[in-house]
Amino acid sequence: MVNGLRGGAAGCCLYLCFAAIADFGRRKNVLRSGSVTTTMTAAVAFGRENKGRFVEELKALLRIPSVSTAPEHAGDVRRAAEFVAAELKRIGMENVQLIETTTAHRVGHPLVYADWLHAEANGRPKPTVLCYGHYDVQPAEPLDEWKSPPFEPTERDGNIYARGAVDDKGQMWMHVKALESLMVAGGGTLPVNVRVIVEGEEEVGGEGIATFVREHGEELKADVALVSDTDMFAPDLPTLCVGLRGMIYTEIEARGARTDLHSGMYGGAAPNPFVALAQVIAKLKDENGKILIPGFYDKVAKPSADELKAWKALPFDEERYRETEVGSVALTGEPGLSVQERTWARPTLDVHGMPGGFVGVGAKTVIPAKALAKISMRLVPDMTPQESFAKYKAYVESICPKGIELRVRLIHSGEPVVVSTDNPFVRAATEAMREVFGKETVFVRGGGSIPIVGDFVRELKIPAVVMGFGLPDDNLHAPNEKFHLANFYRGIESIVRFLSGVGA
Ligand code: BES
Ligand code: MN
Ligand code: MN
Repeated sequence: MVNGLRGGAAGCCLYLCFAAIADFGRRKNVLRSGSVTTTMTAAVAFGRENKGRFVEELKALLRIPSVSTAPEHAGDVRRAAEFVAAELKRIGMENVQLIETTTAHRVGHPLVYADWLHAEANGRPKPTVLCYGHYDVQPAEPLDEWKSPPFEPTERDGNIYARGAVDDKGQMWMHVKALESLMVAGGGTLPVNVRVIVEGEEEVGGEGIATFVREHGEELKADVALVSDTDMFAPDLPTLCVGLRGMIYTEIEARGARTDLHSGMYGGAAPNPFVALAQVIAKLKDENGKILIPGFYDKVAKPSADELKAWKALPFDEERYRETEVGSVALTGEPGLSVQERTWARPTLDVHGMPGGFVGVGAKTVIPAKALAKISMRLVPDMTPQESFAKYKAYVESICPKGIELRVRLIHSGEPVVVSTDNPFVRAATEAMREVFGKETVFVRGGGSIPIVGDFVRELKIPAVVMGFGLPDDNLHAPNEKFHLANFYRGIESIVRFLSGVGA
């Protein structure tokens, strides 16, 4: 009896074993004959079962203050790179490595690279998707405006609050978790070929990755780039970003007297560099938001009639936007143009800060010897950073106030880009998001910049699918940055479906 039982159990085990092997063989055949759907469904299920762990991992990454612009955080930036690399390795990606970058004026932050390139059908390689994201973040200041500390990720109301939650650690992590889900579901294989490149300098201009793409483009050879670093036009509205503004970020240094001076003894005779900068800035842009640099608009391309029509049809309430998103008493900018045209298809100029002089508590009567102004311009097709900067510099120098020496410096720049929408990858993306959101995708442009997207399109000559899951009120670059957790999960599922779709 006992023996019989044991025999039965052993037989049963054996049977299950054979059945599993037979099933594995069948599944392999099914997979080879192109049914990626099974893997996709299993990957989606895996993602749903593991979402709690995915968020905990993201929190660990968010605790690393990888502020790329701050030299004192260089070690943290590297730790974040190592964190991402370790996970890519753990999930089964190959050739995982940190790639060091150097730029003209400093040692850069490392790139994280990984690939998995064994997907083929009928003896031919399947397409390759280049997954891009960035692990660096903006500075968290002003710290006292955060409800929970920026590098102590905290869940509130279905959101995760932390610097980098949505820009871009959370969105980059969606890629990693989609790849993990597919790897597990595919028994260590992916339904499509994948290269991953994650940079640590996006928030400071991305010079390192731009140089790498120019010099080692063939090592990133792919058929399409997948970028998740933008937002959705409205909650629950799947969105593809098909254009990004470029930018030139500049600094003007104004020098007057040889040294700081007593403003009573010398005020009236000595030039004041802050006043000089104010006068220069006042001549850069008029009250209608028009930039006064001669020839600045020469190359500005109008959006197509179709695009303008699509933008008009978007669900947008200007008054609500002013009140809830901007929070000002009025909107500014070029009259007669919609907010979408003004923020997506027109260049702008902004002043970010004017370091120098006395900014302490109380009063100090000083005429500073020097002052700085940090000024950037957003560019749109077909403007180029080189030409735009040359025009700006020449103009600023031509309006230099008496007694002042101005030095105009370019800190970083990036080209504007508009990506094509008529390709199978964009169709795979809209299909993936239709499955997840149950809605048709809207096509928008972004007012922000992701400099490397233009390089992918121009240098690697591939289309880009810019599929982001942020929300308009996620507070990018501001205190209380957050990522809506439902969008983190929907993003993972959309990417699982997209990658499967491209590999089908
Ligand atoms: N993820 C943003 C860009 C973005 C956000 C585009 C939302 C569209 C919608 C990116 O990290 C960013 O902030 N880029 C900088 C680039 C600059 C430092 C070169 C930007 O736009 O200011
Ligand atoms: Mn970003
Ligand atoms: Mn950013």
